[in-house]
Amino acid sequence: MDWKNKIAVITGASSGIGKATKDLLRNKGCIVYNLDLKRPKEVDDYLILCDVSKKESINAAIETIFTNEKRIDLLFANAGVHLFATLEETTYEQLESIVAINVLGIFYLLKKVIPIMKEQKKGSIVLMGSDQSFIGKTGSPVNDVYRSLDGVQPMGRVGKPEEIAQSVAFLLSDESSFTTGSLFAVDGGYVCQ
Ligand SMILES: NC(=O)c1ccc[n+]([C@@H]2O[C@H](COP(=O)([O-])OP(=O)(O)OC[C@H]3O[C@@H](n4cnc5c(N)ncnc54)[C@H](O)[C@@H]3O)[C@@H](O)[C@H]2O)c1
Repeated sequence: MDWKNKIAVITGASSGIGKATKDLLRNKGCIVYNLDLKRPKEVDDYLILCDVSKKESINAAIETIFTNEKRIDLLFANAGVHLFATLEETTYEQLESIVAINVLGIFYLLKKVIPIMKEQKKGSIVLMGSDQSFIGKTGSPVNDVYRSLDGVQPMGRVGKPEEIAQSVAFLLSDESSFTTGSLFAVDGGYVCQ
């Protein structure tokens, strides 16, 4: 794949997995817009401060990018939050905030970007999920997380953001051209054990 000057949009690329993917794609020659609530530690000329839970914020960010670049080739909807709590511990406000960021935010983004990609007749989208989506649980998820950090993954360790970024880059690339609508686990074997 020729990555040079491809226009990519990553949400939540000021830290963690989003940042690792942003760095990887930029090293390949992509122009990567970072839509995040917070500024990264380093200077980022392509940062657009954006709250993905607000459709006005996403609409304005995507319109700015489209005005600048006239296309969007790649989208990685990565921004998201975790809450480690049981149903009884979770407040209405916490649930509403998580749904707004992790669910509605994806809808707002796709609603704005898909028409652009359809018009171009080309585009790749990767949506971030969680291994926890596959697993029904009772008891305290906090304990599960600790166990996870201790090496519940069959590979005996947690993944590095750079490792997730490599898989995201593959899914965004032309090399995965016959992959679509797939759930792609990058979890050290966690969900298949
Ligand atoms: N790290 C893990 O083990 C893990 C596991 C499963 C899934 N995930 C998912 O991967 C994604 C990235 O995780 P991470 O570990 O890199 O997290 P992180 O907290 O390091 O980074 C998340 C980024 O999203 C940004 N963000 C949060 N809310 C936002 C909002 N409303 N609008 C715009 N930006 C917002 C944050 O500012 C931050 O830069 C998340 O969706 C997370 O749920 C992570």
